[in-house]
Amino acid sequence: MINIQIYDTTLRDGEQTPGVHFGPRQKLDIAKRLAKTGVDVIEAGFPASSPGDAAAVAGIAEASGNGELRDVTVSALARMRRDDVDAAAAAVKGAKRSRLHVFIATSDIHLEYKLKISREEALERIRDCVSYGANLTREDGTPAFDEIEFSAEDATRTDPDFLCEAVRRAADCGAGIVNIPDTVGYTTPDEFRRILRDLREKVPGDYRLSVHCHNDLGMAVANSLAAAECGAEQIECTVNGLGERAGNAAMEEIVMALRVRRDVLTRGGEEMGCRIDPREITETSRLVASVSGIAVAPNKAVVGSNAFAHASGIHQHGVMSARGTYEIMKPEEIGLTANTIVLGKLSGRHAFADRTAQLGYTLDAAGIDASFARFKEIADKKSVMTDDDIRAIVGEYLDSREGKYYLETFQIQSGNHIRAMALVSLIDKESEEADGGNRIVTEAAPGEGPIDAAFNAVNRIAGADGTVGRVELISYGITAVTEGTDALGEAKVKIRDAGQGTEFSGRGVSTDVIKASIKAYLGAINKWRANRNEC
Ligand code: KIV
Ligand code: ZN
Repeated sequence: MINIQIYDTTLRDGEQTPGVHFGPRQKLDIAKRLAKTGVDVIEAGFPASSPGDAAAVAGIAEASGNGELRDVTVSALARMRRDDVDAAAAAVKGAKRSRLHVFIATSDIHLEYKLKISREEALERIRDCVSYGANLTREDGTPAFDEIEFSAEDATRTDPDFLCEAVRRAADCGAGIVNIPDTVGYTTPDEFRRILRDLREKVPGDYRLSVHCHNDLGMAVANSLAAAECGAEQIECTVNGLGERAGNAAMEEIVMALRVRRDVLTRGGEEMGCRIDPREITETSRLVASVSGIAVAPNKAVVGSNAFAHASGIHQHGVMSARGTYEIMKPEEIGLTANTIVLGKLSGRHAFADRTAQLGYTLDAAGIDASFARFKEIADKKSVMTDDDIRAIVGEYLDSREGKYYLETFQIQSGNHIRAMALVSLIDKESEEADGGNRIVTEAAPGEGPIDAAFNAVNRIAGADGTVGRVELISYGITAVTEGTDALGEAKVKIRDAGQGTEFSGRGVSTDVIKASIKAYLGAINKWRANRNEC
């Protein structure tokens, strides 16, 4: 059987999804889950992009070096610049197996309008940087990277002869893996096959081919599979299809297509497969949805909540007689089991800690204490607590953990004949009062309704009213985590920095929808503030 390597870029391209920001500890939790799922390579981040991301990549590299993440290569992204390569080398130093992923755009439109360089200059940068990375050593004289991957950004819109020249140059200078990205999701399966065959024929050599497909026309998975059929040995993808714009090829779809259609998805008649354990797919998808704050669409292939639901009477009848009538895979194959009620208000801290670990979260003692306190508070009001409730509670804790502000109290006045008014008090975790405690800051603000008034009060405290910068609310929604009148409400908000255009998301849970909304808004505001401090 031909083994297709799964290169997971949830932590890098996935983090480029508007509104998504992973902190170092969140990245480590996801990396652990990815390793457990069986991915071959984890693209942990882009170390030159920020000190925070460099630290996150270093944390994942160290976890792989000390055996916490087994059998994975840790990859770091770099532009075609020596300082980016140096930052990547420093970040992956602790990894058991490391990879430099260095890229440059090769299409004329990118060269002319984005990089403003000629084709010759691009080739020269490839020569300089790929050989620099390949020859870079650590203090002890060992190579800084075990493997070098070269990507020709926008390859599918690149002049085919120039693409060959760029790949030849990279391979000659030490790139053992050559990645062909369909950066703007433009190609089709037939065209992509032609591009890859042509490349292999014209540039023979000792390198492995990889593909990286975006989903702008909904063909990312089909294009990736077509590439595997004609020789790609590595597929780059993300959990739940996260990524820039319409996202990347979804890992779970690739894995299940390779499995379910192994009869036709072959290379020259030989079966293809990968190392992923499909039974881990559901849990991995849920963890990524919870940590990223990007919910999976109900009709999403493989992991959507409707993927195994049968609504029409004819379908239900068929499935009851024989599941194969309308189901091409079994829910158990992807680890989807009935959502059992696991804990209740009498459950202890130990049982709660065990369950959070099973769900893929690594919480330290303070994290368990804080989440368990919330669990107890909510379990008191709610008769049963499901895994989804626990995910929502831990997700909210993870979001709030790294922020400056924490909700202390709020009071809202609202009615059909008065303007809504909110009084909000936040704990400033970065301040210190004379008695050693944190400062509590209070502001009042009016608004179009209770939520708007509360958000305005938070803006005044955090300086998002124009004092530090200005933010715009771009989306707000509240959903019930589980069914019933005592359900937990999960609020999600997305905001944008009006000047820089960067987006941040947050979520909050509570049986009280206003409290959930303020917590969600605070989560986003905290990320916005942290980003302002980093810039
Ligand atoms: O889409 C793309 O081209 C990329 C590269 C950095 C591989 O993400
Ligand atoms: Zn990409």
